[in-house]
Amino acid sequence: MLNQIDKNKKKVAEEAVKYIKNGMTVGLGSGSTIDWMLKKLGESVKDGLDIKGIPTSVKTEKLAREYGIPLTDFTNVLEIDLAIDGADEIDDDLSLLKGGGGSLVREKIVDSVAKELIIIADESKLVSGLGDFLLPVEVVQFGWELTAKHISQLNCVPYLRKKSNNEIFITDNNNYILDCSFEKIPQPIRLHEKLKLLTGVVETGLFVGMVDRVIIGSDNGIRTHVN
Ligand code: A5P
Repeated sequence: MLNQIDKNKKKVAEEAVKYIKNGMTVGLGSGSTIDWMLKKLGESVKDGLDIKGIPTSVKTEKLAREYGIPLTDFTNVLEIDLAIDGADEIDDDLSLLKGGGGSLVREKIVDSVAKELIIIADESKLVSGLGDFLLPVEVVQFGWELTAKHISQLNCVPYLRKKSNNEIFITDNNNYILDCSFEKIPQPIRLHEKLKLLTGVVETGLFVGMVDRVIIGSDNGIRTHVN
């Protein structure tokens, strides 16, 4: 039996698959909402939809293979027609905070190059300003303590991400994640730029000016915001 949030995730996931057309190269995001999308996309592929996916995480790649979705990579294609991804927070300008699952680097590589980016989420992800969710920042392992110190000078507390067994979380790119507690993030692009200038920072979970369409699921149905 699905709870209401999962029902809403499933609804938007199924809606997003309608935007996938024959011949497309499709960026496959990461997260639980995307898992629903992969299931539906797998069914469409079985019914004859001819596409190729580029996964944004090892987990998405594994699930896509299980669902029979044909995959490709950047040795074969340098363009993505459409990317579909989830988000942890979405503000009024359709700026995003992402990386709760730790896949932000590959997500940003794929989402930023897509001709069209669709974000799918349940309505709990809509916020008036980013920053209640800790901002994930991927950093190289070497000297992470120094990188954390430099990040903290931007007025936040960075926490090294650990797994439930207390081992350090290691990303698909063999890096660490610092989850950063900011009061609020009034200017996401400014903060992103400041963080990116710090040596040791690989990428931030701030996705600004990238989204074309957001599909939101609520108990009342789905609604679409177009940028
Ligand atoms: C993965 O690193 C994230 O960016 C996800 O896209 C985000 O956490 C959304 O995940 P859910 O769909 O599980 O909420």
